[in-house]
Amino acid sequence: MRILVTGGAGYIGSHTCLTLLQNGHDVIVFDNLSNSSIVAIKRVEELTGKHITFYNGDMRDTKFLQELFEKETFDAVIHFAGLKAVGESVQKPLLYYDNNIIGSIKLFELMYKHNVKTLIFSSSATVYGIPKSVPITESMPKGELTNPYGRTKSMIEDILMDMQAAGEIENVIILRYFNPIGAHESGMIGEDPKGIPNNLLPYIAQVAVGKRDCLSVWGNDYNTVDGTGVRDYIHVMDLSIGHVMALEKFIESTGYRVYNLGTGKGTSVLEMIKAFEKASGRIIKYKICERRPGDIAINYADPLKAYAEFGFKTKYDIDKMCLDTWNWQKNNPNGYEE
Ligand code: NAD
Ligand code: UFG
Repeated sequence: MRILVTGGAGYIGSHTCLTLLQNGHDVIVFDNLSNSSIVAIKRVEELTGKHITFYNGDMRDTKFLQELFEKETFDAVIHFAGLKAVGESVQKPLLYYDNNIIGSIKLFELMYKHNVKTLIFSSSATVYGIPKSVPITESMPKGELTNPYGRTKSMIEDILMDMQAAGEIENVIILRYFNPIGAHESGMIGEDPKGIPNNLLPYIAQVAVGKRDCLSVWGNDYNTVDGTGVRDYIHVMDLSIGHVMALEKFIESTGYRVYNLGTGKGTSVLEMIKAFEKASGRIIKYKICERRPGDIAINYADPLKAYAEFGFKTKYDIDKMCLDTWNWQKNNPNGYEE
């Protein structure tokens, strides 16, 4: 199949491009490189020995998108492009609504016009808000959201639901990711956050490699196994395989489908620190700090719907996630920058 991957130079996008190519699909990427590097695309080509057709462009640029859809044909779109920093979205809501919502609408308009029937959308467990219970199933209602980033994910889901109901798009697959971490085991591609990392794993990895002094643990008074926050971390390669399995299963279908992509297991911050120390052989210095505003105590997925409906089951455990993150970090202490 010929797949358009928006945001394909980014963290999850680049790993998914690799898995798509390894499964015999043709990959066309566009990305404005606002949070990524063209080096990621080159390395995916190197790893697979296959070519990616790359366009440097912004999804808000109608002329760019029109030309792309006139030049290329697609069997499906996997839509990763978007801004994702929760804190930044609180500071710059207009930017987030413009980039994520307006940008997505422009993409959907072009898909409609050119009769591209299938879309996979990167959503997030954040749409559940504060879960009433765990594990979280897809049938649980969406929750109250505390930041513009999360609202963009929830709104795009709703836009797609309405479009699908009206026949403006035939086949929508919403994938709600839990916490993607890890890297391809070659250590050639991985997560390369700009500036100070917001997320736990990139921060721990930078402490391990000596780029940052000490990890702040945001709270140890939650009602969890050791008081620190618990999340469902999923290896980015498992996540990428989930996309390809969903695509291949549902390409001939119509409908609006929603799936959690997680492992079903929760890991606390302190457990993660220990696992990373074991994987890296380094000591992770940390201090206990106040809770981070907006954080929830615990979330993990019920992953059974994705298993039942397209056979998706994660393969990699926390030790492997830490090993691969460390391998990427130590080989690329400055990310994709030379
Ligand atoms: P990322 O920032 O590495 O990738 C997003 C890519 O989109 C980047 O390469 C960026 O340059 C590109 N982009 C942003 N705005 C664009 C625009 N207007 N036009 C063209 N390209 C644009 O992030 P990621 O972690 O790979 O996340 C991919 C998707 O998954 C995002 O939509 C994100 O919200 C979603 N998601 C991520 C997580 C996570 O923890 N990483 C969790 C849940 C959902
Ligand atoms: N944490 C720390 N110190 C840090 C960073 C994080 O203690 O420096 C803790 C957090 O308090 C939380 C856990 O580590 O308990 C995980 O935090 P992350 O920031 O890595 O992940 P979140 O679960 O808060 O958020 C992530 C994505 C969001 C997404 C959400 C739900 O960043 O975009 O998962 O999928 F919405």
